[in-house]
Amino acid sequence: MATDSPIIIALDYPSLDAALCMADQLDPTRCRVKVGKELFTRSGPAVLEALHGRGFEVFLDLKFHDIPNTVASAVQAAAEQGVWMVNVHASGGRRMMETAMQRLDQNALTTHLIAVTVLTSMQTDDLAELGIKTPLAEHVEHLALLAKQSGLQGVVCSAQESARIKTLCGESFLKVTPGIRPSFAVANDQQRTMGPNEAMAAGSSHLVIGRPVTQADDPMVALEAIEVELEGH
Ligand code: C5P
Repeated sequence: MATDSPIIIALDYPSLDAALCMADQLDPTRCRVKVGKELFTRSGPAVLEALHGRGFEVFLDLKFHDIPNTVASAVQAAAEQGVWMVNVHASGGRRMMETAMQRLDQNALTTHLIAVTVLTSMQTDDLAELGIKTPLAEHVEHLALLAKQSGLQGVVCSAQESARIKTLCGESFLKVTPGIRPSFAVANDQQRTMGPNEAMAAGSSHLVIGRPVTQADDPMVALEAIEVELEGH
């Protein structure tokens, strides 16, 4: 029951029951879902099984970063559980990314593998403290290109970065962007937000949206309002 929707709903919940309670209010033909570190650490593979059983495609957002063999094995494990997408940190390097990609190919696993470039919580000063003297935007571009050259299918990036990454890495390179706020929603703790339509116009391929849908009185009504904003994309 695959969907063509660019919308990925972030299931940021501390338990399997809470996550499934939200998933049961959503329609798997109209969105995908994202499972992150807290939910997965608490509920384990059971949450993937339950979501797959309900027809959802899952982005497992665990941002692996380790030696190549360990990351490749973790990516393989995720793919063998049927997730639609999984990610690693591009700063783990070319060998780490290539090894993970090769492992998927060798096992005929079609899960999308994408990379995180620079966490959006980081600023230029934080990079400098790590010994990275390049301006942040340039470092993001550098890591996006490295991910592309390593055979990965895309990156997680802010919508502000999508246009530049599209120019550098091409249209088909996936740009999965959080920090999206539809016109009806509040910003919460997100700093530089973009509307769904604006983000797609900037070149994003997928939109990660959490609270504007999960904290709405009626999540499907909120999802429909986003679909209306997205008409034409
Ligand atoms: O509720 P909200 O729409 O802000 O949720 C956004 C989701 O995207 C959360 O799961 C958050 O962890 C994730 N995310 C983010 N910014 C990033 C990377 C991931 O907001 N740079």
